[in-house]
Amino acid sequence: MPALIFSSRFLFFTVTLPLLVSIALYRLDTFDPAHHPADSLVYSNASIPPLINDKLLTGAEFIGVGLLNSPEDIAYHVDSGLIYTGCVDGWVKRVKVAESVNDSVVEDWVNTGGRPLGIAFGIHGEVIVADAYKGLLNISGDGKKTELLTDEADGVRFKLTDAVVVADNGVLYFTDGSYKYNVHQFIFDILEGKPYGRLLSFDPTTRLTRVLLSGLYFANGVSMSPDQTHLVFCETPIRKCSKYYINGGRVEVFIQGLPGYPDNIRYDGDGHYWIAMPSGVTTLWKLAMKYPFLRKITAIVAKYGYEPMFMENAGVMKVDLEGNPIAYYHDQTLSHITTGVKIGNYLYCGSLSHSRIIRLDLLKYPAQNKKL
Ligand SMILES: *[C@@H]1O[C@H](CO)[C@@H](O)[C@H](O)[C@H]1NC(C)=O
Ligand SMILES: *[C@@H]1O[C@H](CO)[C@@H](O)[C@H](O)[C@H]1NC(C)=O
Ligand SMILES: *[C@@H]1O[C@H](CO)[C@@H](O)[C@H](O)[C@H]1NC(C)=O
Repeated sequence: MPALIFSSRFLFFTVTLPLLVSIALYRLDTFDPAHHPADSLVYSNASIPPLINDKLLTGAEFIGVGLLNSPEDIAYHVDSGLIYTGCVDGWVKRVKVAESVNDSVVEDWVNTGGRPLGIAFGIHGEVIVADAYKGLLNISGDGKKTELLTDEADGVRFKLTDAVVVADNGVLYFTDGSYKYNVHQFIFDILEGKPYGRLLSFDPTTRLTRVLLSGLYFANGVSMSPDQTHLVFCETPIRKCSKYYINGGRVEVFIQGLPGYPDNIRYDGDGHYWIAMPSGVTTLWKLAMKYPFLRKITAIVAKYGYEPMFMENAGVMKVDLEGNPIAYYHDQTLSHITTGVKIGNYLYCGSLSHSRIIRLDLLKYPAQNKKL
């Protein structure tokens, strides 16, 4: 008998009570996740190219370890040879990369007082920053003046200004990931699964901010086609990037069914875009995307400070101008890769949570044909 009493008490405290508490919390909680569009729940290998390097970390070098605190986006300034990157402590830092990564020099350049994410160069020598908290910023080339260009459109304030690209004619195109959740709450935007993102433009001559598209699922990276006819932008939770034609506003699929959740997309000046994915698709993510109640439970757990959705198998996909996948660099043990920029023969990767930039020599460690 005592053994039975012990075990039923044991069961009560380990199973029944936590279950009752969970049900109560679940019922009380107002978090109300939505179903994702059906086509975003289809998984195939169609977007996986034949050329693969699935050990991105093998041979990779780390730049600015401990000096670059979560360098989310990277922009390469060709004339000075400097890399600009925005860190979680508000600093836009500049990195002079040397042949040996340990000789690289990291310089604190300008602190925005916010969270600089996307970085691009203006046509008058200025640096444009999509600051998650502040909005779209114009920092003069000498770093002495920072000006807020815009932080709202159609009466709705940006909550997560995310990525920016500058057209040859000087117009700025950028994204607001969410008008509901800020950058520290982004996981709740993903878990809620409702489209709070927007694609926007800012014209420096008229100083007008326009909403090009609203109702986007976590609008993230944005890039400009080399012929300046269209943008390519990514929606993270639905694993899709789309084209937006500047003239007329037509929207077309660029690439969908990605093997991970796309973040920044960068054009390399040489016929290819590079799409970074902070996490690959995992069984847990697949289930959560399919079942809103799982995302609700996850959100409740996350509110108590647990990070329940693991990110793994991060990487960067190289695609051609039409969105055909060409090569895929990834690593099971890697997470939070937010940008991939090709400079010379190297791939430079930014990160949302690690204190360094990753550099991979693409000649020494190429993606190879796995199907041979
Ligand atoms: C994709 O490829 C992997 C590895 O080759 C395989 O295990 C998986 O079943 C494939 N998935 C689909 C949906 O074809
Ligand atoms: C760079 O520094 C790290 C840590 O001190 C060391 O492990 C590594 O071997 C160095 N790399 C080179 C190329 O010197
Ligand atoms: C940014 O500010 C500089 C002056 O510091 C100005 O020359 C430039 O036109 C501005 N750029 C934009 C995009 O507003």
